[in-house]
Amino acid sequence: MLIDTYGRVATDLRVSLTDRCNLRCTYCMPEEGLQWLAKPDLLTDDEIVRMVRVAVTELGVKDVRFTGGEPLLRPGLVGIVERCAALDPRPRLSLTTNGIGLRRTAAALRDAGLDRVNVSLDTLRPEVFHTLTRRDRHHDVIAGLEAAGDAGLRPVKVNTVLMRGINDDEAPDLLQWALDHSYELRFIEQMPLDAQHGWQRGDMVTADEILTALRTRFDLRPEGDSERGSAPAERWLVDGGPATVGVIASVTRPFCRACDRTRLTADGQVRNCLFAREESDLRTALRAGADDAEMAERWKAAMWGKKAGSGLDDPAFLQPQRPMSAIGG
Ligand code: GTP
Ligand code: 5AD
Ligand code: SF4
Repeated sequence: MLIDTYGRVATDLRVSLTDRCNLRCTYCMPEEGLQWLAKPDLLTDDEIVRMVRVAVTELGVKDVRFTGGEPLLRPGLVGIVERCAALDPRPRLSLTTNGIGLRRTAAALRDAGLDRVNVSLDTLRPEVFHTLTRRDRHHDVIAGLEAAGDAGLRPVKVNTVLMRGINDDEAPDLLQWALDHSYELRFIEQMPLDAQHGWQRGDMVTADEILTALRTRFDLRPEGDSERGSAPAERWLVDGGPATVGVIASVTRPFCRACDRTRLTADGQVRNCLFAREESDLRTALRAGADDAEMAERWKAAMWGKKAGSGLDDPAFLQPQRPMSAIGG
């Protein structure tokens, strides 16, 4: 079991398959891209499956999400999914993607055992998409979303980051569109995880602002009286339900107390928090021939050091050394 000193148990593993991406979202990375990881530093497909096996069979991990960068850029993705789906016990498998390429791969991913996908889309307007991502691929994302739904990778969740003065006027339109297509929309507060270190609290569109904007057109009620558990999204019933809209307010309403996550980077480092400033190098031990039991012990030790929270409200907060695209979202 992956337990920390605050008693939290990590059962949800997020695996970054690559730090590369085919978009250049302004809140994530610069136009010229980043210094990508070198091939020998990346875990191989076999090494990734081995790490997931250790997590699932030795450490009680129940959910595995593949992220990036953009995970669809990883050539071996379908095979990795297939081999992870064959593990006993079988973990639930999901993918967080920008949707480009999903049109071609959704059916194969489903056949390999993927359960569901979350797709990032910040705008319904192709020209705004171009401004935000610096690429003209809006239609590919829309096609990818449709393919995911058709393949039965449901629920299809859509992640939206609102940027002040760019797409922050679109919240109600995005929700109407998501309702029309049966996608579960979640708005995400922008976090200080960009490679450029340009995040400023005042620029961030807050959960309260988002809810106020949505309420100009929809009736929103909390989905339940119960705690939201370990899910980062707080959900609201739209116009009486059953459809919901979520808000992931990592900055103004953090969910650290209930966090159940552990992370593996594409270069084999375990992170106990998205915002952690330390990583644990499991790749070296793996390549030195460590057995599953030793890998599990190292992973447990990494999680034991997990801090209480993200530290975002601490005046001395420092961004992690790596940006989100290299950590895995
Ligand atoms: P579901 O299981 O489908 O609800 O997935 P999810 O919302 O956890 O995953 P997804 O990859 O879609 O991430 C949505 C947003 O939540 C992204 O902006 C992530 O960076 C953010 N997120 C994911 N994990 C964490 C975390 O541990 N801490 C914080 N603060 N944000 C996170
Ligand atoms: N803050 C909040 N969300 C971000 N994402 C990428 N960078 C940031 C950031 N700095 C979102 C992407 C994607 C999800 C994995 O994280 O848009 O939906
Ligand atoms: Fe790529 Fe995601 Fe970063 Fe956009 S936010 S550039 S889609 S990794």
